[in-house]
Amino acid sequence: MSFNNRAAIEISPSQAEALLVAAQEASQYAYAPYSDFPVGAALLLEDGSIVMGANIENASFGLTLCAERCAITKAVSSGNRHFIALAVWAAKRPNGAITPCGACRQVLAEFLNPNACIIMSDAQSATPRTVTIATLLPDSFTFQGE
Ligand code: THU
Repeated sequence: MSFNNRAAIEISPSQAEALLVAAQEASQYAYAPYSDFPVGAALLLEDGSIVMGANIENASFGLTLCAERCAITKAVSSGNRHFIALAVWAAKRPNGAITPCGACRQVLAEFLNPNACIIMSDAQSATPRTVTIATLLPDSFTFQGE
């Protein structure tokens, strides 16, 4: 079944703002000594609560965990699987240019509805960018129907 033509799942402007504030707060806890590129993420759960994540780098660079996957793993490993939206915030990437990497898109597609919103912003952007998972990762691989 394809959800790609369905409308994005709306969240209120105040929810979106709260998510972005949480993502910005989360970026303070980033461990990014190698890139000096702190990123924060905030996941809105179905019950209205927010789970935050930050990027965690490693001297073995390939082991770096992005903020988005940090938030997802925190939430899922705490028993939560029903998510409404995710915000990602980067201090240093102006004009809303922060976007989830390919690995994070696949992980987001595993747990969020294809029409869930990803909200992206930074310290300089006046207006956050909002896109659906289906837009970020069209035709994604799933096991549905197997
Ligand atoms: N990073 C994230 O945490 N999320 C993104 O959406 C893009 C990139 C991190 C990984 C690495 O620690 C740093 O940003 C530079 O790539």
